[in-house]
Amino acid sequence: MTMLKAVRLGVNVDHVATVRNARGGSHPDPVRAAALAKAAGADGITAHLREDRRHIRDADMERLKAEIDLPLNFEMAATDEMVAIASRIRPHACCLVPERREERTTEGGLDAAGQAAELAPRIAALKAAGIRISLFIAADPAQIAAAHALGADIVELHTGAWCDACAEGRGAAAEAEFARLTQGARQAAALGLEVHAGHGLDYATAERMAAFPEIVELNIGHFLVGEALFTGLEGAIAHMRAAISRGRAQLAGGAAA
Ligand code: PXP
Repeated sequence: MTMLKAVRLGVNVDHVATVRNARGGSHPDPVRAAALAKAAGADGITAHLREDRRHIRDADMERLKAEIDLPLNFEMAATDEMVAIASRIRPHACCLVPERREERTTEGGLDAAGQAAELAPRIAALKAAGIRISLFIAADPAQIAAAHALGADIVELHTGAWCDACAEGRGAAAEAEFARLTQGARQAAALGLEVHAGHGLDYATAERMAAFPEIVELNIGHFLVGEALFTGLEGAIAHMRAAISRGRAQLAGGAAA
């Protein structure tokens, strides 16, 4: 019997910082949330240092790296400023995301194919600093091929369009998006890329994604931080872990480690 590894859960703490910044003080602290997430069973912490610093700030990233003993996934735009900050902080991985309209594909992921010339030197600099490279892309064959050609270690497939279609009850569109994600995960894994997924996931959609044998990690933020208002962060993470385990257990012949 094939033993499939459990799907890793990366908890994105950006929106703890969004709430903090609404009042301009230091509460609630995203680093405290990350410590709680670790205690509740998170496998990694994700945070996005945006160019406009609308939620996570430079000091948050420094503290997440220094104080939280979990792999840090540093989401960032592929700019020289961000490459310099990440090279200094040395997170476990950098996930390159689009921030400006011209960097995006129509599906909202990074335009790895169209931006290859700009991405290549930044990816090389981050790799030279010993950082793993993840590209947040749509499950589009050309984007996946471009990520591979650029030497990415990981692709994070953008689940936003699928989650939106599920939430809005657009069944046919949801199934078409789901099929694209399935094909994309297969293509990426066949190329030797590690496959992650994220954006807009909730308990039900995370459960379905966890049933993809190629999926290694799910990165989830907004829904967990919202649910934490009702159940506490630990409760939301425990519930999410259970949903992910149920999804993994659906794989024929597989068992979550
Ligand atoms: N993955 C990436 C690359 C993202 O940019 C985001 C949003 O910051 C997420 C995952 C998490 O998305 P959500 O907050 O909708 O769960």
